[in-house]
Amino acid sequence: MIELRKFEIGDIDYLKLWITDERLCCQWCARNFIYPLDDLQLYKYISTLNDSHTNFAFTLVKKDDDIYPIGHIKIGNIDYEEKSAKLQFVLIGNRLFRGKGFGKDMVNLAIKYAFQYLELEELDLRVYSFNTSAINCYKTLGFKEIEYIDKSFQFNDEEIWDEIVMRLEKDKWKKERK
Ligand SMILES: CC(C)(COP(=O)(O)OP(=O)(O)OC[C@H]1O[C@@H](n2cnc3c(N)ncnc32)[C@H](O)[C@@H]1OP(=O)(O)O)[C@@H](O)C(=O)NCCC(=O)NCCS
Repeated sequence: MIELRKFEIGDIDYLKLWITDERLCCQWCARNFIYPLDDLQLYKYISTLNDSHTNFAFTLVKKDDDIYPIGHIKIGNIDYEEKSAKLQFVLIGNRLFRGKGFGKDMVNLAIKYAFQYLELEELDLRVYSFNTSAINCYKTLGFKEIEYIDKSFQFNDEEIWDEIVMRLEKDKWKKERK
């Protein structure tokens, strides 16, 4: 069994370990963080969380083993009037843990937090078009593509990535769960 708990200062070192190269860094967060992740960026990140209730970041842990985190996820840009938010920084840290269902379970927990606890109605996210495992993960949970942005992100001199915007609406999510 797994659960989300608040992202804490003690988790910073894991994020630094998990983001092993620039490609993964960009795939994970565009340029919200610059590779390599460091204390300065991550302390700044922590300072933007939770106090305004518009950004929540979580660490995924096993219920009986809080010591070794598995993943990270953020519900950001929360707009309580529009009842909307963005799902960001979705990551299963250790490569060996990917493709085993943890990503789907983690995103599902974040969806429940957003729709049931924060009472939001709509979640959006962005994902690069080559990121099949992430896209499958989101589709399985009910996210639908609402926009395809050609050449949205210049990774380096040779690569420009296309981006997909996906959305999950609470009503549809509730119906599909029945
Ligand atoms: C994206 C990520 C969070 C997905 O988590 P995960 O634990 O690897 O994925 P899951 O095992 O939960 O699989 C979710 C779905 O994707 C499918 N999937 C998993 N790995 C896949 C792969 N390599 N290729 C194609 N589909 C894949 C699974 O079959 C599952 O679909 P299903 O429920 O229909 O069977 C994880 O791979 C990751 O952290 N990647 C690096 C960071 C990143 O790209 N984050 C996303 C930024 S938008």
